Amino acid sequence: MKLLILNGPNLNLLGKREVSIYGNKSFDNYYIDLQDQFPQIELSYFQSNNEGEIIDKIHEVGFNYDGIVLNAGAYTHTSVAIADAISGVTSPVIEVHISNVFKRESFRHHSYISSVCMGTIAGFGLDSYKLAIEAFTKK
Ligand code: DQA
Repeated sequence: MKLLILNGPNLNLLGKREVSIYGNKSFDNYYIDLQDQFPQIELSYFQSNNEGEIIDKIHEVGFNYDGIVLNAGAYTHTSVAIADAISGVTSPVIEVHISNVFKRESFRHHSYISSVCMGTIAGFGLDSYKLAIEAFTKK
């Protein structure tokens, strides 16, 4: 099984950014844990702060990967273009958030991508990614 973890803007700062919300572990370190936990899965990882690059990546893998675990960061709440990219490909996408966006500011309560994703996992810290991978493996 081939899965892409795709992180959007500011998620390169994990471990340094708003640690009370996002924790103090970098994604690079967490990604090593994920690879250890799922040795049977061909995982790859891409992060960009640029909306167009996220869309290009969805186009690139979205017809041949078994799934995409997407944390679109703030683009979740703004991007019709990322929602259209998800609709345009065949690979299923699971939306993830580290924080429980529904406990936070009201502008984080709306997602443009939820309705075109297989499901959403939010609020379990970095383990939201692990839960999404488990969901793909049980599909
Ligand atoms: C986030 C939640 C978003 O509202 C925020 O803009 C992020 C991170 C999360 O993982 O909790 O950048 O997607």
